[in-house]
This record gives sequence, structure tokens and C-alpha cells, in this order.
Amino acid sequence: MALDSLLEILQDPRTRQPLCEPVRYVFGIPTFLKEGDVVGQNAKYQKMYDNIGRFTGSVFWFICRLFRLDMVSKRKELLSELVIRSKDKVLETSIGAGANIAALPLDAEYVGVDISIEMLRACQKYSLLKPYHLQLVHANAEKLPFRDESFDVVFHFGGINFFNDIPGAIREMIRVAKPGAQILIGDETQIHVESWYSKLPFVKKYFCDTPPVLPPMDAIPSQIKDAKLSYKWAGTMYVITFTKSTLLSDRGGGGTC
Ligand SMILES: C[S@@+](CC[C@H](N)C(=O)[O-])C[C@H]1O[C@@H](n2cnc3c(N)ncnc32)[C@H](O)[C@@H]1O
Repeated sequence: MALDSLLEILQDPRTRQPLCEPVRYVFGIPTFLKEGDVVGQNAKYQKMYDNIGRFTGSVFWFICRLFRLDMVSKRKELLSELVIRSKDKVLETSIGAGANIAALPLDAEYVGVDISIEMLRACQKYSLLKPYHLQLVHANAEKLPFRDESFDVVFHFGGINFFNDIPGAIREMIRVAKPGAQILIGDETQIHVESWYSKLPFVKKYFCDTPPVLPPMDAIPSQIKDAKLSYKWAGTMYVITFTKSTLLSDRGGGGTC
């Protein structure tokens, strides 16, 4: 997405009103987080991902090359339910270093949100490798800084299991999706958390006291009738897909400063 188009759909995540102050930028990325905004689990994982982000870009590519991993095909499998058309406006919440974008069509317009500025910086470097139409935004996925009904497709892969407010993050994904838009939510299953995260040096301390992970099907609003749950990568990842019902149009914004 071009920066001008992004600026048109931004709004204040706290008031859900048009922006009354100029957008602040950090490393060229619009930021909606101030000191003290991020608390609880979100602060814990923001710290972890800021540490990981400092190394992610280079380490990720090194590991892929070393083990000849075809990460693009693996990601395509995870996102196989997504239908993205040319020029669609696509939002990924918790984009991280941008590994999913590499598996998606080049001719759509992407926006990626993340709470970790270091992951976004890794994504900046990574996305330069291909000519994506991608804008990054530093924000909390539980309070998105976008107007209602801005995107044709909204997806999230990885992170939501440990958010402070999982139902709130899903409501936000639905709010910013256009009526009829496709929404996809995926993350690791408990099998993956136990067999991988709980054993990794530097990372395991962030997962030692977490409750067991469950796909958040009960957080999908009851008006959604087509929610589907499936499992990928030998049961280590779950994927929930649904379409935004027109009954869920929630036009809250639109005021003036
Ligand atoms: C496992 S990574 C997934 C990254 C990417 N989606 C992928 O599939 O490679 C989780 C990401 O969620 C982000 N995150 C965690 N809590 C968040 C929140 N409340 N709002 C936005 N992003 C968040 C982290 O900073 C991290 O980049």
C-alpha cells in the first residue's frame, strides 16, 4: 500500500476518532505506542520479540540456507485458505519479520502491524528483497489504528495465543475488515509450545508459566456462521477462517477532532 493510502485509513486507536496530532514515526514507521502503553503479557512478549528482532533477519535467512528449508512453500501451506486478489488491501496483525508476506501475491497492497519495533525493523530489511507494496505500523493488535471496514482481507499468524485480550484482538480484526472480507487466525498448538518453545534457550523462560494453548474458537462472535478450524504441519499449528458477516458491521469512528 502507498503511504498516502495508509494515512487516509489511520485513526486514533484510543478514541477511534480521526487523528488530531501528526503521525509520529520511529525508524520511518508510524507508531501508535507510547511509554507505558504496553502492559502485562504484551509487555513480556514485546521484550522477547525486541530481543529476537535484533537478530531475526540474518539468523532466519542463515538457518533457511543452512538447512535448505523452503520456508515459502511451508508458509503457503499455512495460508492456503487465504484468497487474495490483485489490488486487495490486506492487513497482517503481528507481521513479525514478514515471513508470511513472502508466500503471498506481489500485486496486493499490504499493511503489517506489530508491537515490536525491532521485529518491524527486521521486516523492513526483509521486505526490501522483493517489491512488495507494504507499509508497516507499530501498534498493539488489540487496538488497531485503522478506520472501520478498511481491508479486503485480514489475517494473523503467530502471537495471539499469548495476547492480553484475545477476544478484543479478534473484534479489532473484524472491525477493520470490510463486510464479506475473509479473516484468518492461526498460531501454534500446545504440541508446538511444549516440544519447541519450552525447550529453546533464551526463549523458554517466557513460556514456563503459560496456561495450555487452545484455538480461540469461543472468541469468534456468534453471528459468524462459517468459522472453520483446521490443523497444519502435523498438528503443530491451528488455523481458523471465517468471513465477516454483514451483521457485524460496527461503524464506530467517523467523528472529528
Ligand atoms: C511468532 S511471531 C509471528 C510473526 C509472523 N506473523 C510470522 O508468522 O512469522 C509473533 C509476533 O507477534 C507480535 N506480537 C505479540 N504481541 C502483540 C500484540 N499485542 N500486538 C501486535 N503484535 C504482537 C510479536 O512482536 C511477534 O512479532
